[in-house]
Amino acid sequence: MNKQTIVGVLGAGSMGSGIAQIAATQEHQVVLVDLNEEVLGSSKTKLVKILNRLEEKGKLIADDVLARITFSTSVQDFKDCGIIIEAIVENIDIKQKVFAQLETIVSADCILASNTSSLSIASIASACKKAERVIGIHFFNPAPLMPLVEIIPAVQTSEATKNASRQLIDNWKKVTVLTKDTPGFIVNRVARPFYGEALKIYEEGIADFATIDWAMTELGGFRMGPFTLMDYIGNDINYTVTETVFAAFYYDPRYRPSFTQKRHSEAGWYGRKSGRGYFDYAEGAEKPAPNKDEELGAEIVNRIVVMLINEAADALFLNIATKEDIDLAMTKGVNYPCGLLEWADEIGLEEVLLRLEFLHAEYGDDRYRPSVLLRRLVRDNKTFY
Ligand SMILES: NC(=O)c1ccc[n+]([C@@H]2O[C@H](COP(=O)([O-])OP(=O)(O)OC[C@H]3O[C@@H](n4cnc5c(N)ncnc54)[C@H](O)[C@@H]3O)[C@@H](O)[C@H]2O)c1
Repeated sequence: MNKQTIVGVLGAGSMGSGIAQIAATQEHQVVLVDLNEEVLGSSKTKLVKILNRLEEKGKLIADDVLARITFSTSVQDFKDCGIIIEAIVENIDIKQKVFAQLETIVSADCILASNTSSLSIASIASACKKAERVIGIHFFNPAPLMPLVEIIPAVQTSEATKNASRQLIDNWKKVTVLTKDTPGFIVNRVARPFYGEALKIYEEGIADFATIDWAMTELGGFRMGPFTLMDYIGNDINYTVTETVFAAFYYDPRYRPSFTQKRHSEAGWYGRKSGRGYFDYAEGAEKPAPNKDEELGAEIVNRIVVMLINEAADALFLNIATKEDIDLAMTKGVNYPCGLLEWADEIGLEEVLLRLEFLHAEYGDDRYRPSVLLRRLVRDNKTFY
């Protein structure tokens, strides 16, 4: 595929609009389709605003980029596309129906990609006659700003589809990582303890939200604390992802959701968008002060980071992705200060393992079982890099 390739984007919500913006900025003709005319209109308005701002900064000429995007309510307009990236509602039945329909419109070699965060690419591909043309291309929000894109071939996906898709997204100056079609891919799998362990530390009464956030940002170097981030994502969305991942992993205790988050979600305390989450976002509301006890802070960071490292190690052990891609995914997709496997080497694998073994023994909960890979590396006196 090259710049002559016409890119189709299905769904003009937050992700679809962002993906259309990227492709048009990269000089592709883009067909952006949404069934809802109002959504299309507001997508266009938002894009005009963003592109004008970028023009003011001297980055592009807004009218040129905009002229390359055709806004449409008809999937028939996809007929000349070389690739279609679907970003509609996260529902397997709807996605399958849509993929089967797309196949009747496009040419035989058009690639059909899904931006799904949590559904299996194999199940989406199964709806198509030419399942080998289907792949996952997972952007992060906001798509034009976040450099990472996960490329997810299903068991049915051909090498040609995989290579052409990755090459196209690389040409868009994104950082691509290749991942297996397993729940959460890399980022949404490896990042679970960032939320889950923070919630558990709170539930055990070890520290409050503000203190945990202070520790993770000031001492851990993370850009946002877990509770501020969950409030930003929305507790309803973050809780649903956790529940989906938990079920998809056959109820592995490592991914067990938290009652605290469930109750916040049930209460409508979604976070920023509802004005209240773990923190109060009402005008004039004061943010609670953290307890800046350095020893407590270090303890919090260590517990969450070793759990993250354990997830990363296990993803590597199960060949979800290469160690380089696992580390890249977390730094480029969710802005971690350092790749987790690199971080593990820095801390010392023996120390990481000791901490996990201590937690495992103390809680008697399989949630804390150390990855076999970590045990083997320590046994053989090796490191990840
Ligand atoms: N929001 C995120 O942070 C994020 C990040 C990565 C991936 N994703 C994934 O991207 C996809 C879209 O997410 P979003 O947040 O942009 O959703 P959204 O609700 O903002 O947008 C979805 C759009 O799809 C349209 N739509 C629904 N059914 C359609 C159909 N059959 N044909 C055409 N248009 C249809 C809707 O009108 C809506 O405008 C989902 O699969 C989601 O899991 C979301």
